[in-house]
Amino acid sequence: MANAETPQTTRIGSATPRIDGRLKVTGAARYASDQPTAHPAYGWLLVSSIAKGRIRSIDERAARALPGVLDVFTWKNIGAIEPGKTFSQKGFMGTSIAPLQEQIHHDGQIVALVAATSFEAAREGARLLVVRYAEEKPSAGFGSVGLKAGPVEKPSPGGEPPLPDPKAGDFAAGYASAPVKIDARYATPTQHHNPIELFTTTCAWSGDGKLTVWEGSQNVSGFKHGLAKQLAIKPEDIHVISPFVGGAFGSKGSLTQRTAIVALAARQLGRPLKLEVTRAQGFTTATYRAETRHHVKLGAGTDGRLVALSHEGEEITSRPDDYKVGGVDTTTRVYACTNIASKVTMLHADRNTPGFMRSPPETPYMFALECAMDELAWALKMDPIELRRVNDTKVEPINGLPYTSRQLMPCFDAAAQAFGWNTQRPQPRSMRDGDWLVGHGCASTIYPTQIAPATARVRLTTQGRALVQTGTHEIGNGAYTALAIVVADKLGLKVEDIDVRIGDSELPPAPVAGGSNSTASVCNVVAKACEQIRAQLAASAVAAADSPLKGASTQDLTLAGGSLRASDGRSEPLAQAMARAAPGAIEAYAENIPHGAKPDGVALLYQGVSSIGGGFHLKDRVQAAFGASFVEVRVHARTGEIRVPRIVGAYAFGQVVNPKAAESQLMGGQIWGVSCALHEATEIDRRAARYTNTNLADYLIPVNADIASHQVLILPEDDRQVNELGIKGVGELGNVGMNAAVANAVFHATGVRVRELPIRLEDLLGARTARA
Ligand code: MOS
Repeated sequence: MANAETPQTTRIGSATPRIDGRLKVTGAARYASDQPTAHPAYGWLLVSSIAKGRIRSIDERAARALPGVLDVFTWKNIGAIEPGKTFSQKGFMGTSIAPLQEQIHHDGQIVALVAATSFEAAREGARLLVVRYAEEKPSAGFGSVGLKAGPVEKPSPGGEPPLPDPKAGDFAAGYASAPVKIDARYATPTQHHNPIELFTTTCAWSGDGKLTVWEGSQNVSGFKHGLAKQLAIKPEDIHVISPFVGGAFGSKGSLTQRTAIVALAARQLGRPLKLEVTRAQGFTTATYRAETRHHVKLGAGTDGRLVALSHEGEEITSRPDDYKVGGVDTTTRVYACTNIASKVTMLHADRNTPGFMRSPPETPYMFALECAMDELAWALKMDPIELRRVNDTKVEPINGLPYTSRQLMPCFDAAAQAFGWNTQRPQPRSMRDGDWLVGHGCASTIYPTQIAPATARVRLTTQGRALVQTGTHEIGNGAYTALAIVVADKLGLKVEDIDVRIGDSELPPAPVAGGSNSTASVCNVVAKACEQIRAQLAASAVAAADSPLKGASTQDLTLAGGSLRASDGRSEPLAQAMARAAPGAIEAYAENIPHGAKPDGVALLYQGVSSIGGGFHLKDRVQAAFGASFVEVRVHARTGEIRVPRIVGAYAFGQVVNPKAAESQLMGGQIWGVSCALHEATEIDRRAARYTNTNLADYLIPVNADIASHQVLILPEDDRQVNELGIKGVGELGNVGMNAAVANAVFHATGVRVRELPIRLEDLLGARTARA
């Protein structure tokens, strides 16, 4: 063994193909509804065809007479369900609107679940249900009668008051004194995540009252506890299994109301029940990105320095719930400014409750701020990059807290150089290539760096294989690979030597995969567990008479290349060190409570509650990842057709665990940003408060031919304040600001400033009337 060829160690930061890639591309990865289930029944939902009112009657006779139909579940026979508390109420639900009730709160609310021996019979059974409603006129959102302003956030049941809207100095005075002013209103539409994996739930009860749930989830531990509350059973009697998630983007972060009814129906049926929610039903039975409006006022000196900034946002939510993204937490902290005001208003309509969707606060709010900054640059006749430079800051202006690291301007400079940015800005509508008007735009990119308490277990065997277990989630973020990389790095192995088990509520709990916290949260706790293993091996080696490392200092010993090594060159093969220290295997369990997190964060995690902290909510500092987004657009002078031939972004987000995955995340974000600017909108029939394009065919997304060239530049950054490994989140960084960069480029190309997303051809043809 001592002479064995030295194996390599996979290091944190080495570009590593996804270890689960083969499983995914060969179809071997089992998603929730792929799990084989013995003798299942199949469910089908019927959802309401009105947005407001109540159910008068449901005629179930034809459905029940259909061969294969086992039962029809409505409010009359489903049994007791506690609707549960939403995330903002410190619960786990995406909505507090109970399924299967007589009252209708929004279009597409669940009114019945039909169970049958086949998928087809369940679907046909649901079609045969005759529901009669007493209908009232709904309010769809902005511009509707009956829209009601409500509390921005109710105090949480824990008694914690909602955070106030950020402000500093005297906005009104600062704005009044400013020689250059921008006063503009922006709007973003309803958007749905549309993960390719549909929302599915399979529930199976065992004879002793234990429930297994297979469901795509960003929060297996939270789901277990949330569902237990809904069903009034013990959390330890519920097992949530979700090893792979086929797209989530926030939509699988909170528990939907469907899970509880599938569980209750399966119990009544006495057999497992599988439910696949249709694409259209997914629009109303899960969450989505709320429609928002913004009023931004900027006041600046002639040198470009901001002296006043105000950002007022309005967000549409459902009647009962107060889901808010409140991106002013971010937009008031991007630039130096002494006089700041902000305000977020919730407007309650007859809509399903919105929820997390990729960079929930920053996508709409940074769109507004970064368009306004571009407008200010034009008003000042200043290069927009220089405008950001004169307003760059090392401290956030609300509480004067320092950024742990901030590479906004290095990102701008790197991206500008790669893009070939012309600092002598040609006038709007002055660059032309044949029939195409050419425009260049840029915007700041930012995402708060968040981290949460987490737990993990690592087991190292004498054969030099390691198993890491933590209840985190693979939502396309590359979690399997990131964990394998960290364990390999810390234990001196290769990724091939590591087995990763995640996505299961029986594992040591990890936080909800939201707010781009996962990699930082779980990699740090896993590194801690690995350190315990290293320390145990080292302590054994230095004390052993037969070890070449005898007498070395335990702190000096590291694991690398399959050996335990001292800095003086002495080493001992891992197998030998293991055989002495712990014949068979060493197992270590670790908990991590990050800086600023509640001391009871791990106890809360064992109750399913994630305590995501950091970002702008620390007492002593603020932490965020930064970037700069650049695009070229080409707008056809006659048709208004908009093309985006080039995207360049530069980003700094601390320690990169896997550059290959990070680049892919950022590229996905960039493309999504273009999509947000030009394509994405859930259309609403405002008379009926009903979504009209509830399908994938109408869900326009850019494809390869739409974006000919994209570039992701990653700047090195070493910030050990954010956490020991120096990891900032990257998942939700790439799309922030890209929507504004596109809008700014469209203005440059055409001279038309479009302040409402998505930008449409008709906006550029002068034929635009205010949208309903
Ligand atoms: Mo993400 S929208 O925080 O799942």
